[in-house]
Amino acid sequence: MKIKFWILMSTIFAFLLIAFFQCRKPDSSVKPFGQVNGQEVYLYTLENENGVRLEITNYGGTIVRWLVPDREGNLGDITLGFNTIEDYVDKSPYFGCLIGRYGNRIAHGKFVLNEKTYTLAANNEPGGIPCHLHGGIKGFDKRIWDAKFIDGEAGKGLKLHYVSKDGEEGYPGNLDVTVTYQLTNENKLIIDYNATTDQPTPVNLTNHAYFNLKGEGNGNILDHELTIFADYMTPVDEGLIPTGEILPVAGTPLDFTEPHEIGERINMDHEQLKFGLGYDHNWVLNNQAGELIMAATVIDSTTGRFMEVFTTEPGIQFYSGNFLDGNLIGKSGKSYPIRSGFCLETQHYPDSPNHPHFPSTILNPGEVYQTRTVYQFSVK
Ligand code: GLA
Repeated sequence: MKIKFWILMSTIFAFLLIAFFQCRKPDSSVKPFGQVNGQEVYLYTLENENGVRLEITNYGGTIVRWLVPDREGNLGDITLGFNTIEDYVDKSPYFGCLIGRYGNRIAHGKFVLNEKTYTLAANNEPGGIPCHLHGGIKGFDKRIWDAKFIDGEAGKGLKLHYVSKDGEEGYPGNLDVTVTYQLTNENKLIIDYNATTDQPTPVNLTNHAYFNLKGEGNGNILDHELTIFADYMTPVDEGLIPTGEILPVAGTPLDFTEPHEIGERINMDHEQLKFGLGYDHNWVLNNQAGELIMAATVIDSTTGRFMEVFTTEPGIQFYSGNFLDGNLIGKSGKSYPIRSGFCLETQHYPDSPNHPHFPSTILNPGEVYQTRTVYQFSVK
């Protein structure tokens, strides 16, 4: 009787001891990542059962690390970025961040909505012609978002929330934005963008991850093979602003309907490649129905890493990292030369507020902005 009593007591004690230490164990999936203007920011880790790992900071909702296996099962970080928050604040060319209120360019930083002219910051000047880029001087990429982990329907997720005030960066209306990242055990990153407004406003949200499937810092991406499921694109002028035309890609170096190495035709004598200094254009995806379908695929045959991009968006900006110039030093201490990363930014077309025949980017009160993009990794 006595012995039984003591066995019971020691078992209870052992359980209490374990529970105590479990509670005290710091949550290894959230780490401090420094301060921005005196405010703490954090690094949140999402990991799946294959070891795929994402580290995301709530500064700009930025993907800082993204580890995926190669064909031998070795994990490599396939996204360009920095080790410190200071580098992100001081010099990031939009590495891995969320972009808003309007992804890509708006001509001269001006648009007319319901007979009123709005003036936004002209924070970019390709070809010496000023325009508004990626939401302005302090876009969503430079804001601190509220963040919390969620158990999403597809996997563990991180939910980010930000309220962009009426007049912020010149845009009308209070815009309430939620972006959710979910990592699944099929090695998919699902990004859901949601927003509501109290006044009509343009909205075009995306993520600006720069990929190098060999691993960041491992040379350029010119031998990556790209397919884009788009028969048309929106050509630009020398200021990288859409002319308003929607042109077939057939017969041009912008035709990626069949797989091509990114570098194969990038230096061809073609006006669009001259204006873009390479690829920096919006492709009009064949899917215009708003369903989630495949938009692009990329394979790096050296590592076997294969990326598929799915989206509900009607467009995708393929940017071949033409403005990288070797001056930025990345996470593994190596510099990022020209074309050492590429972006596939799912989006509505650039400068849509000034082109009424493009799919509308205007969100009205009572409507819900809702788009989804999925990046899936496997090996070949
Ligand atoms: C986008 C633009 C590019 C460039 C990058 C950021 O992809 O289309 O022209 O501005 O962002 O450097």
